[in-house]
Amino acid sequence: MTVSSEQTAREADVLASVLASFQRCEDPRLKQVMESLVTHLHGFLREARVNEQEWHAAISFLTAAGHITDERRQEFVLLSDVLGASMQTITINNEAYADATEATVLGPFFVEGAPFVELGGDISFGASGEPCWVQGRVTDTDGNPVPGARLEVWEADDEGFYDVQRKGEALAARAHLFADERGEYRFWGLTPTPYPIPHDGPVGALLAAVGRSPMRASHLHFMVSAPGRRTLITHIFPAGDELLDADAVFGVRPSLIKDFQRQPPGTPTPDGRDLARRTWSRVRFDIVLAPTATATGGRS
Ligand code: BEZ
Ligand code: FE
Repeated sequence: MTVSSEQTAREADVLASVLASFQRCEDPRLKQVMESLVTHLHGFLREARVNEQEWHAAISFLTAAGHITDERRQEFVLLSDVLGASMQTITINNEAYADATEATVLGPFFVEGAPFVELGGDISFGASGEPCWVQGRVTDTDGNPVPGARLEVWEADDEGFYDVQRKGEALAARAHLFADERGEYRFWGLTPTPYPIPHDGPVGALLAAVGRSPMRASHLHFMVSAPGRRTLITHIFPAGDELLDADAVFGVRPSLIKDFQRQPPGTPTPDGRDLARRTWSRVRFDIVLAPTATATGGRS
């Protein structure tokens, strides 16, 4: 669509007036962010030639997102997730550093206060699914172990639900544990299975309208922290999962795809646990923590 020079000048004038309105802002960072936001927002409106009906539809969408949001449901975070904005913000703020493990989205299902398990303990607490032995080592970027690193782990059950999505039920398929003096950790979890993000609201309707699936690739969440180290929020994904290229929230990073090895019934378990001839799986996930920004002079 061609836009006349008079029309272009009028549109540029509107943007210039809005930018000028931030001149008196005393917070330089707020000023910078607002100027950039407004410049890109006007650029989008002008480039897409958004009509008034479309703009009202956008406002109705945001209104609906507000109405469905409460203490348990955060539709704006879901919107940020499906637009890749969460993943982009995480990528910007977890700058690549040596061989430090990559970060990915937190998601809405982390909760404080997950139970403690000893090394080798079972985090399922009755949640249904195939047992999975998870083990690895936490090191710094020089390869030194990080003894006592705290690991928070959480995942959905094999019906695709987190404990917190099941009303009134106790915490399950989540726990925290600490790496030993060699930085090693191990626990029994569940082999991850795919599940949809909540899609019964405006974000689900948006995904349907653009022909996208709400499904997430199968994954197991980790949050790993230690003094002097950048806290790592990440997942691991089973190699071969059919949704690796179609994760609804763009959380998959190739370095986080791990080999979850299926063990036939009767295969001896690493700790002698009797699984009554059930199939189980095992995976190794070695974790490398970057130093905190202070420890690197602002590089991490
Ligand atoms: C999750 O992995 O738990 C999740 C992440 C983003 C949106 C919804 C769920
Ligand atoms: Fe998840």
